[in-house]
Amino acid sequence: MSVTQPVVIKKAKVLVVDDDKIVLRAASEILSREGYTVVAIDDAVEGLSAAKDPSFDVAVLDIKMPNLSGMDLLKAFKQSRPDVEVIMMTAFATVETAVEAVKAGAYDYLTKPFENIDVLSLAVARAAEKKALRDRTRFLEEALNFKNQFEDLVGQSQQMRSVFKLVETVSYSTATVLIQGESGTGKELVARAIHYRSPRKDKPFVAVNCSALTDTLLESELFGHMKGSFTGATANKKGLFEAADGGTIFLDVMGDIPAATQVRLLRVLQEGEVKRVGANDTLKVDVRVIAATNVDLTKAKEQGRFREDLFYRLNVISVQLPSLRERPEDIPLLASHFLRIYADKMGKKLSVISTGAMEALTTARWIGNVRELENVIERAVVLSATEQIDLEDLPAEIRSNQKGGADVELFSLAHLPYAQAKKLAMRAFERRYLSALLEKSAGNVSSAARAAGVDRSNFRRLLKQYEVAGRTMKKGEGEDDEFDDGPDTGELSM
Ligand SMILES: Nc1ncnc2c1ncn2[C@@H]1O[C@H](COP(=O)(O)OP(=O)(O)OP(=O)(O)O)[C@@H](O)[C@H]1O
Ligand SMILES: [Mg+2]
Repeated sequence: MSVTQPVVIKKAKVLVVDDDKIVLRAASEILSREGYTVVAIDDAVEGLSAAKDPSFDVAVLDIKMPNLSGMDLLKAFKQSRPDVEVIMMTAFATVETAVEAVKAGAYDYLTKPFENIDVLSLAVARAAEKKALRDRTRFLEEALNFKNQFEDLVGQSQQMRSVFKLVETVSYSTATVLIQGESGTGKELVARAIHYRSPRKDKPFVAVNCSALTDTLLESELFGHMKGSFTGATANKKGLFEAADGGTIFLDVMGDIPAATQVRLLRVLQEGEVKRVGANDTLKVDVRVIAATNVDLTKAKEQGRFREDLFYRLNVISVQLPSLRERPEDIPLLASHFLRIYADKMGKKLSVISTGAMEALTTARWIGNVRELENVIERAVVLSATEQIDLEDLPAEIRSNQKGGADVELFSLAHLPYAQAKKLAMRAFERRYLSALLEKSAGNVSSAARAAGVDRSNFRRLLKQYEVAGRTMKKGEGEDDEFDDGPDTGELSM
């Protein structure tokens, strides 16, 4: 047996502005009867602050009003809320104003008095449908974008495998998650991954950078506010918790949010309800909270800067993202991944990273973690003139890590098996040794080889392998030499 479910479509929110109170009331009644949420304003100047309100779908504006014309109001809408569909109406219809209104971005144009009430409801219905379609398209585009981002969460290290497993498991619960990790380790990517794997994936994912706002703004952004609750609160405003209803809110950089906000946050987590700033009533919300921080919250808690009860509420599930230094085995994978992305984006035929460049990448310190690696690859793709990324396409500080050899991060080596670590350290040493030799012999390969007591062709093969020849060897020197393409032992045989 099948039951046909009626399709429930959320009716649009419509703003009507007209100084003529009779028309205003009639229009409100018609539209409310159709099921729209209607806000009626009889003053154009007041209508200006409504033009900043993100919750309207359609606005119906009278053209001729005292103080401010409907055309100016239309322009204000098109500037701050360009996706709100605007219908203009006037008793003094002239073709010129109609053309002017449409040129300024109006969706439709009505003349008063309406021939019948259907004229208004039909125009609003069409405008609302257009707006809904556009919202839907944007939502799908964003969802697709984020979904792709999730599929692009790359890593093969043991640490990242555990993270992936955890993401998989926690996606199905609504438990609060606290993601900790240095800057650029992928906290936001992981938060999105959890959301887009969860049953909430078709609902909003709202990311808030808590440190980017002042204390008062943060409160009003998160929880909303009532008109008049502080200077500048010219209208009621929905908070981000309300906007994320049914979905996930991502509280980013939340290490040092002010004490008062911590209390409010605790209340949302405990009671599942929010109270707008200046409101008496609370509102139920169903929001999953994922928080992230790049400061040690445990320490902040011990120092009394972060509420202990809030800490435990947030830290129900803890995800610790390792720095890139702690997992160098992910670097080649990530580097190739970003190379594919940026080469594609820039339409370049680039798919290889030279051995020397890859070594430099694998042993760099990566203070900025994955984000820094991503930037370095993007830059290299721009710079590269050949079909592969070479050492010289990398920034000096990454390159010098290789040329300087001694800078090989022992810390990162400690995460590799002994044989692999030794090989990397040896190669770093060899590169540094070769550079020093060449510098001493002013770029003369023969005398450098002699000084090292190494067979000349063997020496040249090493220079080639380490890509130091191009920069340090004098042009024309030893051009008759054959490179020895024998087996690459990766070590100097002396
Ligand atoms: N495992 C990964 N696989 C693929 N890309 C990644 C991975 N981790 C991070 N990235 C990419 O690195 C960049 C930085 O990641 P993200 O913004 O998630 O870091 P973050 O930890 O939130 O940093 P911050 O603390 O500075 O806000 C993004 O472009 C992201 O797509
Ligand atoms: Mg982030």
